Amino acid sequence: MNKTLEFMSKKFGVDVEKDPVVRLTQINRTIIAQLFAELGFTEGAEIGVAQGAYSKVLFEHIPQLRLYGIDVWQNYPGYNELENPSALKEEAYETLKSFNSFLLEKFSMDAVTYFDDNSLDFVFIDGAHDFKNVACDISEWSKKVKPGGIVFGHDYKFHKEYMQRYRNGPPRKRFAVDVKLVVDAYRDAKGIRPWFEIYPEIPDPTFGRDNPCWMFVRQEGDTL
Ligand SMILES: C[S@@+](CC[C@H](N)C(=O)[O-])C[C@H]1O[C@@H](n2cnc3c(N)ncnc32)[C@H](O)[C@@H]1O
Repeated sequence: MNKTLEFMSKKFGVDVEKDPVVRLTQINRTIIAQLFAELGFTEGAEIGVAQGAYSKVLFEHIPQLRLYGIDVWQNYPGYNELENPSALKEEAYETLKSFNSFLLEKFSMDAVTYFDDNSLDFVFIDGAHDFKNVACDISEWSKKVKPGGIVFGHDYKFHKEYMQRYRNGPPRKRFAVDVKLVVDAYRDAKGIRPWFEIYPEIPDPTFGRDNPCWMFVRQEGDTL
């Protein structure tokens, strides 16, 4: 078993050799940042930065972190979730200016070509949530993580587009999320085990009650 899996097994009190899918609940995204620090991770990428909220959490918990933040900060055909992309971008630059942050204003699939395979300690995938983007992100960014490193993503959910009304406001379109469907298929196609499904029951200091996440550890000899 590689050292990262051994460490996670002890930290979370789980048997990572017994079950192919390991469920973690006593966790949140801040605890995951702490886990990365404990593992000695210093080099990571976040795909989808928005205003920099999670980048900041990572910097606050991981000493010596160099974080590449990839975001296109624009709506584009097939993606129109952003109300004010340039304000988001400005906030990200302001929030992250005192950290060792390298922001790349690019589409994820353009940015990924700048990174060598097996070069990062972790990636956090949280860009567009449609089928094609999720499939491209998990396939291409996973290769950039070194053995013993962690591939981690947000919004481990699957639902169709729907309309939602907030209080008495106008109905708002909620977009389809294909993340769970796609990453589970990738896991099964690649034979990845263990696979961590993360259903955080500890409210996060920054995000409160957060959405589920998924995670796996790269291993020597895997074939991504
Ligand atoms: C959910 S937000 C990220 C939130 C952030 N990870 C956090 O937790 O604080 C998604 C971001 O992904 C970006 N995005 C969407 N599609 C993208 C693509 N194809 N390439 C790069 N960034 C993309 C959007 O501009 C948006 O800012």
